[in-house]
Amino acid sequence: MNMRKHKWLTVLVLLVTVGVHAQNWQKAGDCTSFAANGNTVVFNTAGKAKLSVKFSSGSVVKIWYDPKGAFKRNNESFAVINENLEPLSEIRVEEQAQSYEVFTGKLRVRVNKYPLQVQVFDKYQKLLLGDYKDLGHVSEGNATAAFKTLRSDEHFLGLGEKSGPLDRRGRSYRMWNSDKPCYGVNEDPLYKSIPFFMSSYRYGIFFDNTYKTQFKFGTASDEYYSFEAPNGEMVYYFIHGNDYKQIIEQYTQLTGKPILPPDWAFGFSQCRGLYTNEKLARSVAAEFRKRKIPCDIIYQDIGWVDGLQDFNWHKDKYTDPKGMVSYLDSMGFKMILSQDPVISQATQRQWREADSLHYFAVDSSTGKSYDMPWPWGGNCGVVDFTHPAVADWWGAQQQKPLNDGVRGFWTDMGEPAWSNEDATERLRMKHYLGMHDEIHNVYGFSWDKVVKEQFEKRNPNKRVFQMTRAAYAGLQRYTFGWSGDSGNGDNVLDGWNRLANQVPIGISAGMGVLPFWACDISGYCGDVKDYPAMAELYTRWMQFGVFNPLSRAHHEGDNAVEPWLFGKEAEDICRKAIELKYRLFPYIYTYAREAHEKGLPLMRALILEYPEDENAFKVDDEFMFGHELLVAPVLKKGAVSRNVYLPEGEWIDFNDGKTVYNGGQVINYPAPLAVTPIFVRKGSIIPMMPVMQYIGQEKNHPVYAEIFPHDNREEATFTLYEDDGNSLGYQKDEYGTVQFTCKKEGAGYSVSVVTDTKNGFVQNSHRNIVLNLHLNRKPSAVATGKVTAKVLTAAALETAIGKEITTTAWSWNEKTKVCSIKLPAGGAPLQVTIKSPATAK
Ligand code: NOJ
Repeated sequence: MNMRKHKWLTVLVLLVTVGVHAQNWQKAGDCTSFAANGNTVVFNTAGKAKLSVKFSSGSVVKIWYDPKGAFKRNNESFAVINENLEPLSEIRVEEQAQSYEVFTGKLRVRVNKYPLQVQVFDKYQKLLLGDYKDLGHVSEGNATAAFKTLRSDEHFLGLGEKSGPLDRRGRSYRMWNSDKPCYGVNEDPLYKSIPFFMSSYRYGIFFDNTYKTQFKFGTASDEYYSFEAPNGEMVYYFIHGNDYKQIIEQYTQLTGKPILPPDWAFGFSQCRGLYTNEKLARSVAAEFRKRKIPCDIIYQDIGWVDGLQDFNWHKDKYTDPKGMVSYLDSMGFKMILSQDPVISQATQRQWREADSLHYFAVDSSTGKSYDMPWPWGGNCGVVDFTHPAVADWWGAQQQKPLNDGVRGFWTDMGEPAWSNEDATERLRMKHYLGMHDEIHNVYGFSWDKVVKEQFEKRNPNKRVFQMTRAAYAGLQRYTFGWSGDSGNGDNVLDGWNRLANQVPIGISAGMGVLPFWACDISGYCGDVKDYPAMAELYTRWMQFGVFNPLSRAHHEGDNAVEPWLFGKEAEDICRKAIELKYRLFPYIYTYAREAHEKGLPLMRALILEYPEDENAFKVDDEFMFGHELLVAPVLKKGAVSRNVYLPEGEWIDFNDGKTVYNGGQVINYPAPLAVTPIFVRKGSIIPMMPVMQYIGQEKNHPVYAEIFPHDNREEATFTLYEDDGNSLGYQKDEYGTVQFTCKKEGAGYSVSVVTDTKNGFVQNSHRNIVLNLHLNRKPSAVATGKVTAKVLTAAALETAIGKEITTTAWSWNEKTKVCSIKLPAGGAPLQVTIKSPATAK
């Protein structure tokens, strides 16, 4: 080795050593013996430290390192509700000279003896995760850390709703729920703590520790990455999957299925900051209907309350709240209200009551209710939702507006606000379940649990609508989420990078099992003074926002952001964008069901669908919307085109339904203001419905199956999911499906339509199903079974759809090259033949 190289190597070794040893970590030492019990093996060391390895399933392993060897937790896990995922036959530990090994059929877990070191291999002996040298599990005082070997080609995804590029390699993150108005594009921490990440080596780690944990993905060294906690247990779950979806699904099994929102939650919603009142709510709602811009939800921000937080309508602002809610209801609107988790001292009766019942977090230095400064309403008591008695008390109060017809809540400020990292005096707060450093990150989570459970208790068989800001892993069992106060507070017009930032934030939130996610369309921060100047940013934000699973326009203070305020062009484009969301509802709702079952998000990183595509790991500015659609929102000021990366396969322009692009390349797509680049995979079926002003407006509307067939023998298929939209029947699997399958037959196609219902769900038998096949040439004939269908003009077919439900008829549109086939209602299985010379686009 030459001297120069040697010098650099010494420096490198020094750097690595300094990085790891900045703290005086106590190592585990040698492993001396083990004891197996059921699906758990405890490995002993020469000292007190022990390492427990529990096999939740063949591919999920819970690892718990306890330097004291006692395996006692202050609190049971908040996040994990089920850690026995599959019954395993007796665990067999094979002892070798240097190690112990357990083979599960999917994984080989090796615990080296000298020193104790964990390595996890897949069944082909590929190393997935390995402890870094003798620092795999270390401690110092109450702090613990895990250092893992970092491979030069290893990349990371995850940690939920965090800023920055999707690939987390080379970055560090902290978990401390923080109120960050107008946060920047790299700001960390933000509002939510989801300590779950995935590696490109096809494993996930969920570090189940609620303290201020830290994740350093190769920031201290190229040789290792680490996760660390200042206190609490070093408990983490290793989750292996063949792809990222499988990892997410197993994490969901550990932490619980997402609740399914009511169907109307997938409509559009309108909000505005603190300025809220009855007159405005009524007039905004009426304006939506007048302008025929679809909308389902009107939000009221925290200004709706009389006293913070007494759940009484503000007397001056709402003269007839019940009348207002029923007026909105008559037009198909639902009202959602904001809650804050505190009670202002000015709300005297309620504050005194909570104080006397010890329902507030206590100041450990005085023994009195903690005195929390709050941005509005003066100083407050912080309601202690970890106290079991609080639940019913809060539930009775939140029920008041629900009894007036309100449909749900928006739980805001649950970090709790103003307890960011710098507000160290907040650490004096003592909660029923522990000191604030342990409870901080689960404070909002505990609140959401109460809000949801109390809603369900008092409103039987109704789905809760609840959208939250602060959260911890497992939040999906109680709530949906939005990304808080984005936007540029200094210059609202300069919010373009904040818009772009929302794309990876939303995608990453989804991978942390927050499938029902929203951001504030328009960006929350900054006064809007010049509406025409803001129109472009607003429009582009809307075009992205309609592809958020939940879509809400919102802005701070008295800044109105209704779509018609930004000029006619913006209004028309926004209307179209919102209409598309409504038209896609059957597709969206099917994916909502999948999210409920498997935890998979609707807005998906490309890498979830294309796990083998290395390019996909880097794509932060476009996403899959379900499995079939690719959305590439325009995120740059003045842009009239954008580059779009299309993964392998063939892609059809969803805007014209015709143009085909080859995948595996970056294309430049023309995107003037009115256009959002959207593509559909060739070989897909997208169920759609007609535009409605609100979800459920028309009961017997047709379902359109937009079919983009393969031109080879591969099948295109989609199973549409339907349920009653509002009850908890979905949890008992009361639902219906319509399975569409299209395949090539001879020189034409055959499509089968098969309906099914489960557990007493009654399918709508009064609506047409319309197959829209996107083809090249007009078919020579269409038949259902052996009966040749009537051919009509496109206009005549359009008239027949929805009016006449007994016959099959078809038409050909030469301009759009779509063959539309109206099927009779009734739900009987149908086999439709489309005869040559039709071919796919
Ligand atoms: C903070 C929230 O993030 C914001 O959306 C809301 O408007 C304000 N609180 C006022 O309630």
